[in-house]
Amino acid sequence: MKKSVVLYPGLGVGHLTPMVALANVFVQHGATVTVALVEPPTTSPEFSAALTRAAASNPSVTFHVLPPPPPPSSPAGSSISDDATSSAQQHPIVLMFERLKSMSPPLRNFLRSRLPAVDALVLDMFCGDALDVAAELNLPVYYFYASGAGDVAVFINLSRSTTTSSVDLDGDTVLSFPGAPPFKASDLPQEISNGSPGAKPILHALSRLPEADGILINTFESLEPRAMRALRDGLCVPDHSTPPVYCIGPLVSGGGEKEHECLRWLDTQPENSVVFLSFGSMGTFPKRQLEEIAIGLERSGQRFLWVVRSPRDPEDMSGKPLPEPDLDALLPEGFLGRTKDMGLVVKSWAPQVDVLRHRATGAFVTHCGWNSTLEGITAGLPLLCWPLYAEQRMNKVFIVEEMKVGVEMSGYDEEVVKAEEVETKVKWVMESEGGQALRKRVEEVKDKASQALKEGGSSHAAFVEFLKDLDNMRSL
Ligand SMILES: *[C@@H]1O[C@H](CO)[C@@H](O)[C@H](O)[C@H]1NC(C)=O
Ligand SMILES: *[C@@H]1O[C@H](CO)[C@@H](O)[C@H](O)[C@H]1NC(C)=O
Repeated sequence: MKKSVVLYPGLGVGHLTPMVALANVFVQHGATVTVALVEPPTTSPEFSAALTRAAASNPSVTFHVLPPPPPPSSPAGSSISDDATSSAQQHPIVLMFERLKSMSPPLRNFLRSRLPAVDALVLDMFCGDALDVAAELNLPVYYFYASGAGDVAVFINLSRSTTTSSVDLDGDTVLSFPGAPPFKASDLPQEISNGSPGAKPILHALSRLPEADGILINTFESLEPRAMRALRDGLCVPDHSTPPVYCIGPLVSGGGEKEHECLRWLDTQPENSVVFLSFGSMGTFPKRQLEEIAIGLERSGQRFLWVVRSPRDPEDMSGKPLPEPDLDALLPEGFLGRTKDMGLVVKSWAPQVDVLRHRATGAFVTHCGWNSTLEGITAGLPLLCWPLYAEQRMNKVFIVEEMKVGVEMSGYDEEVVKAEEVETKVKWVMESEGGQALRKRVEEVKDKASQALKEGGSSHAAFVEFLKDLDNMRSL
């Protein structure tokens, strides 16, 4: 019989995109998919737009917006909390987890209305509360982890080791986790290591990963063999069984953009000759850092395509979209004129997947978000790693030391990365023998990635196995 699954991406547009990519894998394997969505607490044009876009481009997937939660019953005494407590309670991460918790009743009602015609519930990494809903309804439940297996190995061990509300460590302390190379405490996400009020709910959510019936990961087996072995051998959580782990990636979405000026410009450039610099949808730099990058690029003499975003005011927590950057004011005087035959600076956004796959692109300076990492690898490009926030520093360690598909841009953890470093690394990757060897290595990894996704490849087979395991669960 045709399987039917409900995917639950939690809150935030960033969590929706990877879930939609997963939805399409289910559809390809003949399943019926409903994505159950949580509306942000306040009206969000961004959410509506993302939903409209997702629904329009994925007609075989049903999108269902869950009704809002019942109003909170205000607990007695909450009004006398002191300032520190209430500001911690206002922390965006704390609020997000509260919202997710409050969504359990609407989610339960929705699933119950569909039963018995739902075979499984698939959760985003932050949606641990939904495990309880699934248990109540006796429904098989899985996680979809949109980042790599190295992250999973580290986080399930770390989240279960810490009974305190955050990891209180000196930044230089070297940490060792099963399945991962040693790295410094300062490479952990800041949300966990700096005593942020968000640490406790994040660690709590991650500590529940082993409770699911399985974990689907957006990676492929041969990219992260050590982390996969540690997870399978149960080394990460010796006191609890680790559920089956299925590498089903790399799922990369996007691409197909045709008409952007930068693609036309790339068409006129020689093969493998352009360094692409882009730092994700949240990555911004102060003017001083933009200047160092500009000087380094110019001195390197290499061709470049650089996405520049306006600096963000560090005080501004609103998450409002940034204005278009004023390039003349931000970049060194005369830079654009002097480099106009070598490079192109685009404002705010570029069609990244298409740029990376363009034959003229030769290397990728990246913030090491998992999306971008997979996009770079599947385009066969060496990565110059410049991590900025969240789990990106850990990803950098994995990229450089485990997967061996990139090198680091030194100084990212100091005040600025110097022009000299930008110049040296860009020249190294484009001109040196080391750079050539790295490109060759990434091309091999790219081939393995595409093999993995083919019928009979490891990721395809893992998904088939997952569906079979699900059948067995349903017949228990
Ligand atoms: C991955 O990329 C998509 C498309 O660029 C974006 O919408 C989404 O937020 C990204 N996801 C993550 C986890 O960064
Ligand atoms: C973390 O991993 C180490 C090594 O396998 C293990 O000794 C330790 O018990 C793990 N921590 C937890 C909380 O499972």
